[in-house]
Parts: sequence; C-alpha cells; structure tokens
Amino acid sequence: MKPYVFVGHPIERETRDYLEQHFELAVWNEPNKKVPAERLRDELQRAEGAMLTSTRVDAQLLADAKKLKVVSTVSVGYDAFDIDAFQEYGVLATHTPYVLDETVADLVLGLMISSSRRIAELHEYIKKGEWQPEPDSTFFGQDLHHRTLGIIGMGRIGEKVVRRARLGFEMDVVYHNRRRQPEVEQNYEARYMELDDLLQHADIVVVMVPLTEETTGLISTREFGLMKPTSVLVNAARGPVVDEGALVTALREKQIFAAGLDVFDQEPLPADHPLLLLDNVTLTPHIGSSTHETTREMEMCAAKNLVQALQGDTPQDLIKELKD
Ligand code: DGY
Repeated sequence: MKPYVFVGHPIERETRDYLEQHFELAVWNEPNKKVPAERLRDELQRAEGAMLTSTRVDAQLLADAKKLKVVSTVSVGYDAFDIDAFQEYGVLATHTPYVLDETVADLVLGLMISSSRRIAELHEYIKKGEWQPEPDSTFFGQDLHHRTLGIIGMGRIGEKVVRRARLGFEMDVVYHNRRRQPEVEQNYEARYMELDDLLQHADIVVVMVPLTEETTGLISTREFGLMKPTSVLVNAARGPVVDEGALVTALREKQIFAAGLDVFDQEPLPADHPLLLLDNVTLTPHIGSSTHETTREMEMCAAKNLVQALQGDTPQDLIKELKD
C-alpha cells in the first residue's frame, strides 16, 4: 500500500502526477483559503507525509501525528516549523533552498527600483488622473546606480542581489552577516561592516536574514535612527525581522525615504493597516519566489524531498538543524 500524504494547498498537475506515482494523495484544493486547523490536525494524524507552505507546525500538532514521518515546506524559510518539536517527535522537516534564489533576487531589485524611483506611487498618481503637463519635482525620486547597497544577511539570495546591483547598477556593496563571506568580498568588492556602521553608511538597506529569535525586531526605532533620511529599506525576508510599528513611524516622519516590502507581521495585511496610508512604500503580497516557473520547481523539489524521506533515505533538503 502506498503511504498517505496530505498536501495543504493546490499544486501543479505535474507535481500531483509525480506525487501520485508514490503516494495515496489528498490535496487541499481551495485557492486563497487556508486549510482549517481541524482538517490539518486530522490529516496529520492520518498521514505519513505532508507538503505545506507557511503553515505553523508545532509540538501540539506533532504530538497527535503518530504516523507522521516528514513535513516538506514549499519555501526556503521554515520559521513556521517548531524545529525543537520536530526533533523531539522524530519527524523530518525539509525545505526548498537554491531553486528560488534568482527569482527572489529579481523581486528585491524590483522593490529597490520602485522604492527609489517611486514607481508604485507614481503609478497610482497616473491612474487617479492627476498627471499634470509640467514636470513636478515633488515626484522626483532618487538614483539607484552608483549608490551604496547594504545587505543584512549575506546568504545565497543576498549574493544574487549583489551580483545584479554590482553588474547592473554599478553599486558599491557593504554587508553584515554572522560569518564573513570572502568570496563575495572578492568577487564584488563587497565590504564587511558591523550592523550599525552599515545602517549609517548604506543608501539602500536590504534585509535578507531568516526569522529567528535573534533576528526578530532586528531593525527597530534605534536602527531607523541610524539610517540616512534619504535611505530606502527593502524587506523580502520575513515581516517580524523589522519592527513594523517603528517602520511606519520612520516612513511617516521621513526618517527614511521609502520602503519596499514583500513580507509583513500579519499576512494578508489587514485592510486598516497604517502602511496602506503611506505613499512612500511599495508593497507586494509575499510573492518573492512566486513565479510560474519557480513555483513549479519549488513544488517538485518539495515533492522529491517527501519521496526520499518516505523511501527511508535522507532527503536532499533536510533542514540543517535536523542533520545528524
Ligand atoms: C520562502 O521560500 O521562504 C518564501 O518567502 C516563500 O514563503
């Protein structure tokens, strides 16, 4: 008998066909509606494997999921998983690194450009029919080329952003990371800086760290106070890495010039969120990795991880804290 696997969101035909070769499959097929908590609990009790995206899996769920051997998230970030609980209950957890690096980097560049040149704001201005015949300097933005990019969290995606910024926009690059990255320093003349120095120095600050206890609220009131009034903040990592209340104040009081955000504390963003009242933001709905091509690749990667795990092999993308 094939192992029973639950998939918590609609998937591409190709992924489904592949999974069905190996598993008895149940798929939550309602787009735009999260699988209800009760259904998730029931499915995880029955399943040997699950494929999920941005779905909280904690000790309570795992304690009841007696048959569960592996949960595969279709994302590189795995902050939705309580990794200690996975360890405790002996359940494997996998993610989808590598396949999305270029795609997320593309979006980061998009947010950098839009925030600096005010593309989202000017788009609204034209759509409202407010375009005046004379050029209006109040709508001028800031150059991106030849300015200084500061990356906080120099992993694979950070490096792809640096390549684009350096080769395409001839930007100077500074970075802060837990470990120095000699190759990035050599290839892109990137300079390592302590966090405070980077915040004081960079024109564009891009946050790329994973969400952990240490990175929660990494950028808050004190940090905005260090940034230049002309600087732009881009966050395509996870919302809580930036203190959202402090960010709204910094944008409102023009402590910084603008922000480009793909991620938020609460997603979807509530309709009355103060960010929605600000002009100097470009907002995207946590879509960094979500192109047709890359979503397909991420799904197949997550599916292969499930197959490997349920065949008794070490899955290729086992989350690093669970290795050994
Ligand atoms: C990721 O892969 O972590 C993206 O942010 C989508 O969740």
